[in-house]
Amino acid sequence: MPHPLEQLRDDALREIESATDEQALETTRVKYLGRSGSISSWGEQMKELAKEEKPVIGKLLNEVRNAVTAAIETRNAQFRLQKESGALAKIDISLPGTPSGYSGYSGYSGYSTTAGYSGYSRTTESRGSLHPLTQILQRSIEIFRRMGFALADGPDIEDEWHCFDALNTPPDHPARNEQDTFYLPDGRLLRTHTSTVQIRTMQSAPPPIRVIAPGAAYRRDEVDATHSAQFHQIEGLYVDENVSVADLKGSLEFFMRELFGADTAVQFRPHYFPFTEPSLEVYVKSKTLKGGERWIEVAGSGMVHPAVFEEVNKARGDNAYDPEKWTGYAFGLGMDRLAMILFDIPDIRLFAQNDLRFLRQFA
Ligand code: PHE
Repeated sequence: MPHPLEQLRDDALREIESATDEQALETTRVKYLGRSGSISSWGEQMKELAKEEKPVIGKLLNEVRNAVTAAIETRNAQFRLQKESGALAKIDISLPGTPSGYSGYSGYSGYSTTAGYSGYSRTTESRGSLHPLTQILQRSIEIFRRMGFALADGPDIEDEWHCFDALNTPPDHPARNEQDTFYLPDGRLLRTHTSTVQIRTMQSAPPPIRVIAPGAAYRRDEVDATHSAQFHQIEGLYVDENVSVADLKGSLEFFMRELFGADTAVQFRPHYFPFTEPSLEVYVKSKTLKGGERWIEVAGSGMVHPAVFEEVNKARGDNAYDPEKWTGYAFGLGMDRLAMILFDIPDIRLFAQNDLRFLRQFA
């Protein structure tokens, strides 16, 4: 014979299982667990039980109460789930989405001669779009990420050491001139190139390193169609064992062809940078690009100069970048230049003028 409490529990569980809605379930809950519910009233009766019976029945009562409470919660969750999926079933997820700027009114086209004019084109026009520089930056980053480059970052306001000394650029180098660089009163400066991030990256982590660092750079240039006081670069740095000029050329060729098309020709010309040896300037030419019949300079590059590794080691206080063991290549891509070629933009100043007639052409 089951104990009456167990009988009560089984009855309750059966009723809970067969409850068809939340209201029926609530009725069942009150019947068993409510203040004067049949399980609760057993608690009252406990007082009258014999001393030795109390702990046994008390334990059973607890178990029964817990089992019934849990069953009610489970059934309630089932009802909630049913309701939610019922609501979802009414939504046709195969329907096309609502276009941005849609006003819900398809518009009276009336006497408009413009085909497809909805009367609401202003809403559509005021939708923003990405700046052409941002577009080319995102495309470039995507290509480099596929090649295994991670993103690195550094500040626009730099110290002379990161911008020049650590990059093997002596104090009398013309780039350090007041005429060429924006200095702050405290001696810091606006970085003249993103090569500062090469140094910051090597300071913070040992080799191997494979990073790109997109960002702004600043020079006291005379502003004209091809020069701006602020411009943008993507710095690249790859340090590992046995990195060679062939790796540098292969990577940049691959990048240029991904960006400008498979028939893009890439040329490397000897150059001089204090922080690379040998140094190479990168030129591209492509028939698909307007003015593509001539070579256009798009980047500086080279093999990391051993003096740069030594300077980094000094700052780190170790020999992590042992020039006998590690080699590396670095490059600095001129993003404004790349965007001008890709989008056939005649004047670099257009990037910063925020003229909507210009910007809308890239929406
Ligand atoms: N920092 C150089 C510039 O701005 C470009 C460069 C980067 C050259 C890395 C070599 C290696 O002109």
